Amino acid sequence: MADLTETPALGHEAYWKAESFAAEMGAVFARSWLFAGLTTAFPPGTHPLDLAGMALTIDATPTGFSARFGEAVSDVDRCGQLLFVRPVSGGPGLAEFLAPYATLLETISQALVEVDHVARMVAPVNWKALVENTLDDCHAATVHTKSLQPAMDPAWLARYRPDRHGAHSMMGNDLGAADATFWSRLAERLPLARHHHDAVYKHLFIFPNLYVATFFGAMVILHRIDPITAESAALELLTCLPVTRAMSNRERALHAAVLRDLVAKAEIVVEEDMAVCRLAQRGHHFAVHPGILGTRECRVGDFQRTLVQAIAEAVG
Ligand SMILES: [Fe+2]
Repeated sequence: MADLTETPALGHEAYWKAESFAAEMGAVFARSWLFAGLTTAFPPGTHPLDLAGMALTIDATPTGFSARFGEAVSDVDRCGQLLFVRPVSGGPGLAEFLAPYATLLETISQALVEVDHVARMVAPVNWKALVENTLDDCHAATVHTKSLQPAMDPAWLARYRPDRHGAHSMMGNDLGAADATFWSRLAERLPLARHHHDAVYKHLFIFPNLYVATFFGAMVILHRIDPITAESAALELLTCLPVTRAMSNRERALHAAVLRDLVAKAEIVVEEDMAVCRLAQRGHHFAVHPGILGTRECRVGDFQRTLVQAIAEAVG
C-alpha cells in the first residue's frame, strides 16, 4: 500500500496565496489550450471571451476562427464541435495536446450542435478544488451518495479502472440497472444522438479547465472551470441532450421534460460538489501537516504534478 500513497505535490498555501494563483494563471492558463465553448457559440463575427481573467477576442468567419489576447495573436483550433484557445501562442498543436483523447472528444462532440441548458456558479474556492474534487475515484460514492452514486452499478468498484495519460484522465462506470432501463426506454421514444452504445457513465478530464460527463452515450455535460481569484472560481455547465433529426411536437415535449428533470438533478449534484469544495477550501487554512493522497486519488496526483511541472518549466 505504501507505494500507492503519496504526499501531494502542492502545499496547502497553493489554494489561497495570491502568488500561487498568479503563477498558475501566467504559467498554465495563459500557455495551455483552454476549452472555450462549442463552436456554434461563436457564429461569424467578433466575440469577446473572458477566460480565467484574460480578455480574449474570437473572430469567427464562415471558414474558421482566429483569436487575440490583447494585441497579440493567440492559437485557436477545434476538436469536433469544441473550440479551444491558447492565449499565448506557441507549443504543441491541439490534437497532440489532447492525446490520446482527441478522437474520443471529437466523437463525443459530433452531435453537440447546440447547448440545451447553461448554468454558471461562482464558489468561494480555489479553482483546483473544483478539479480535484471530481478526480477522486470514489467521488460519486462519497460526495454524491444519494444523487449520482445510485445511478451506478453497485459493483462498480470491482471493475473500476481509471485511465490516466499525464495531465488528462478518464474513468467509466457501468450504469445501474434502473438508470440503464430509464435510458433504454428514452432511446425508444426519442431519436437520441448517441456517441456510443454502452450503458455507461464516463468522466473525462482535460487539463486544465474542462471535464466532460456523459451518460449512456447520449447526455453530455461539458464543465468549464474558470478561475477568478485565489479563492474564487466559476463552474460553467453546458448540458446537451442531442437528437438525430427534427422532433415531433410530442417528442419535443418529452425532450424538454426529461431535460428539466436531468438539469434539476445535475443542480443537486453540483450543490453537493460545492459544499465539499467549500469545506476543503476552509480546511486548507487550518491544516498544519501536509496532506496525503490515497490509493484512489492517483488522478489528483497526476493533476498536481502536471501543474508543478508546468510552472517550473515556465519559470526555468
Ligand atoms: Fe461531483
